[in-house]
Amino acid sequence: MPHIEIRDVSLIYDTPSGSVPGVQGVSFSIEPSEFLCIVGPSGCGKSTLLNIIAGFLMPTGGEIRIGGKIITGHGMDRGVVFQDFAQLFPWRTALANVTFGLEMKGISKAEREKIALEQLRLVKLDKFVRSYPHHLSGGMQQRVAIARALAYNPSVLLMDEPFAALDALTRDEMQRLLADVWRETKKTVIYVTHNVAEAVYLADRVVVMTPHPGTVKTEIPIRLARPRDPLSVEFLEHQKELLRHLGGEAGKA
Ligand SMILES: Nc1ncnc2c1ncn2[C@@H]1O[C@H](COP(=O)(O)OP(=O)(O)O)[C@@H](O)[C@H]1O
Ligand SMILES: [Mg+2]
Repeated sequence: MPHIEIRDVSLIYDTPSGSVPGVQGVSFSIEPSEFLCIVGPSGCGKSTLLNIIAGFLMPTGGEIRIGGKIITGHGMDRGVVFQDFAQLFPWRTALANVTFGLEMKGISKAEREKIALEQLRLVKLDKFVRSYPHHLSGGMQQRVAIARALAYNPSVLLMDEPFAALDALTRDEMQRLLADVWRETKKTVIYVTHNVAEAVYLADRVVVMTPHPGTVKTEIPIRLARPRDPLSVEFLEHQKELLRHLGGEAGKA
């Protein structure tokens, strides 16, 4: 059985100036421990879809099943990481940001800190557990956000352009780190990006979306051994194939 099934999902935004289609008739499945990337230009519905899977938005049509059960809202089975550095609590240390969800769960202080330290070690921030977000670089803040999302041990990690606001070198470093984290944790990951090279580096499979309205155009498996070499011929061929599906301007985003 697939881990996640997305069946004919649509969402129409109701706005003062009329209805705006967010996504329309989106269907695909994700296998347990699969790394799935959703790629497409701005406005094609990537964030809308991710927010529906997270349970933050209710679809106007269709359904999503996780482990066979239809989702009706957000749950501890899904950890979410956004692009925005402001997703952390600025008044809490890195450690206290990661323990937050565990406090909600009623886990004891000693146990919370033990779990949080493990997660911060996984994202290589063990030396910064007492730092506040404003003392950390953008990449480090995103690593805290990943540690926080993993802390309550969700089976699914949902990520919406988590590295898009980082400089290119930091982004490369973060992609390598995320590939390691995924290999170690075996989470099912749904990762949204408009960056084609990022998708080829990370994904087992790429779902390509196109706008007006936001629909799935095609799915492309990436059967390259890991760790991947972004300069290899095979890598560049996959990248070209994705760009072909995205077409002209969209592919350059
Ligand atoms: N809160 C909202 N209210 C109205 N329209 C929205 C809202 N959020 C997104 N949209 C519209 O839905 C479509 C998909 O947007 P979005 O999911 O943000 O795409 P992406 O993440 O791929 O850039 C776009 O046309 C966008 O303008
Ligand atoms: Mg978006």
